[in-house]
Amino acid sequence: MGPINDPSSSTSPGRRTLTDEQFARLAKLVYERAGIHFQPAKKYVLESRLARRLDELDMDGFDQYVTFLTIGPYRDDEFQEMFNRITINETSFFRNEPQLQHFETRTLPMLLEARKATRRLRIWSAACSSGEEPYTLAIQVHRTLGIRLADWSVEILGTDISEKVLDVAMAGRYDAYATRAVAPAVLSRYFRQVEGQQELDASIRQMVRFERLNLKDTLAARRFGTFDVIFCRNVMIYFDDPMKAQVVRMFHQQLADDGMLYIGHSESIRSLGVAFEPVAAPQAFAHVKGRAA
Ligand SMILES: C[S@@+](CC[C@H](N)C(=O)[O-])C[C@H]1O[C@@H](n2cnc3c(N)ncnc32)[C@H](O)[C@@H]1O
Repeated sequence: MGPINDPSSSTSPGRRTLTDEQFARLAKLVYERAGIHFQPAKKYVLESRLARRLDELDMDGFDQYVTFLTIGPYRDDEFQEMFNRITINETSFFRNEPQLQHFETRTLPMLLEARKATRRLRIWSAACSSGEEPYTLAIQVHRTLGIRLADWSVEILGTDISEKVLDVAMAGRYDAYATRAVAPAVLSRYFRQVEGQQELDASIRQMVRFERLNLKDTLAARRFGTFDVIFCRNVMIYFDDPMKAQVVRMFHQQLADDGMLYIGHSESIRSLGVAFEPVAAPQAFAHVKGRAA
């Protein structure tokens, strides 16, 4: 290996090509670590997103990288670095509005009534990317509770496997693309323009806590305790059925008996053998706990 960060040392043709065999080994490592299932058709994603990393590490090719991830002394750090690069982090504020309306107009009032004795509410945005989803939920809780918020303990947790997106989330500043679906009144109430970006108001930012969590690590997730609402949207599309079942079983354990699980509109948790029942509300993609676990 030569000097780090010297792209000039990486020009030999084919060094950055991922062969089918290397792809299979890399995809297996990714799956075992994070449950993310890369189809062979997505080989180009790994190849293009990791080519630069190979340059940074001044590696000869993907064989060396796979070895590094398998037996290298810094493999845990490298997995983290890799997940920062290979995950798809598409998200935005108020994504899938009808579903969020269900949360705000049905689930939230139901829970505020059910929790009026303890006045405690816990919401988990699992695989939250750069924070737009948990912050959207915080805005909804904030405007629903109004001045009553001071009497409630509301905890909103955002978790993701990628540290890179969590850094963006904690910064709380977004571009016009991220806020494109935010109504003008909400924009002026909860954001302010700073250096060409939209900065989220401190009242909302302080309602959300961010932690790194790999959803495959169900034991690590337990430390976060039980939630009244779990949002896990647009990440299970990257999981196969065994991984989905593992994650959804974990949600079952960590959801209050009268709690609600929201999933992405192109995802399904039917036929996983976990006792969740869809609520009868089209476009809500919401689930309650069924009878038998
Ligand atoms: C497409 S984004 C979805 C963001 C948000 N939930 C939404 O629907 O707008 C998917 C996120 O899942 C995260 N992710 C992928 N695999 C994960 C895993 N095993 N554990 C935790 N997060 C994961 C990615 O880092 C990415 O930020």
